[in-house]
Amino acid sequence: MARYTHARINLDALRYNFTSMSELAPASKQVVVIKANAYGNGAIEVARCLQSEVDLFAVAFLDEVYELREAGITTPILVLQGPHQEQECELSSVLNVVWMLHLERQINWINKRIENREIKANQHWVKFDTGMHRLGLDPSEYDHLAESYPYVFTEDAVIATHLARADEPECENAQDVVNAFLLSMQDKHQNLSIANSAANISLPSAAAVYNRMGISLYGSSPFEKEQVSPDLKPVMTLKSEVIALRDLAAGESVGYGATWTASKPSTIATVAIGYADGYPRHAPIGTPALFNGKKAFLVGRVSMDMLTFDVSGLDDIDIGTEVELWGENLPINEVAAKIGTIGYELMTRVSARVPRKYD
Ligand SMILES: Cc1ncc(COP(=O)(O)O)c(C=O)c1O
Repeated sequence: MARYTHARINLDALRYNFTSMSELAPASKQVVVIKANAYGNGAIEVARCLQSEVDLFAVAFLDEVYELREAGITTPILVLQGPHQEQECELSSVLNVVWMLHLERQINWINKRIENREIKANQHWVKFDTGMHRLGLDPSEYDHLAESYPYVFTEDAVIATHLARADEPECENAQDVVNAFLLSMQDKHQNLSIANSAANISLPSAAAVYNRMGISLYGSSPFEKEQVSPDLKPVMTLKSEVIALRDLAAGESVGYGATWTASKPSTIATVAIGYADGYPRHAPIGTPALFNGKKAFLVGRVSMDMLTFDVSGLDDIDIGTEVELWGENLPINEVAAKIGTIGYELMTRVSARVPRKYD
């Protein structure tokens, strides 16, 4: 028998979230972001599930394209970091990728190849920096670039930006940035892409020709503070089981370094998942999990393959009891907040040793 620990991936929830998010911006085309193995949910399965409804998938870099093509996914794939090496440009036609170009040298690599008829004049995306200050060209350079690289800056090209503060609905900065970007492009180019999940929910004016959505499709709110509650269903439920139970006397401690000591007689359940599975080692004492639907709290240090929970007072806990670490009944953002991280990180970190079970 294999270890029970697995991530259940609910594809009905994925479809539901895609519909729910698409309905917020019915005039936009939705680019589905499946980088980092679709945020841990399985890029191939997510792509297979949504391919009939999607014009474009997105990954971070070219290496992430290969497994999708090998699996028979034929939908064009937007590569968000553009080509890292000049030679990669030659693969754009072969692999049917659409580059998001963020450096002038990338634009130049592509422009000259189209001019020399070495690659097809596919659609290209060009990224402009509106305050994230991570990737992208300065919007003031638009005219000069469009004039210098006409094979990239076609009518079909998409001019994109990525917002730094869309996940803070109370902050006016994001709306100001959207307004300024729209104004800067008003007489220049109409084919725009601005919104990620957070902007699609809280900044309607950011809905452009293309939106780019990741986390919301996987059922996690993009907002750290839950003032906004989008209509989403969790896709990943991380499950494990109790593999040992013991009673401790007051004064006895648990785990490496004896970081937690029972103040009263306690029952400790050992659960078959650890940091090698992607459960963060720095999860503090008090991080919740569900045992038969009831909350219990982490005690002692996270080890490589195991966690320990104080299940004192919970009925019906036995060897084999199912444990939900996050998902359908325990919001991933609640667990993430306790650990001092975000749902994105928990999901993407679930390691390859955890089987994904799709239904
Ligand atoms: C450029 C870009 N667009 C869109 C997204 C999707 O963002 P989210 O998962 O918040 O919807 C990402 C994700 O990091 C991104 O890097």
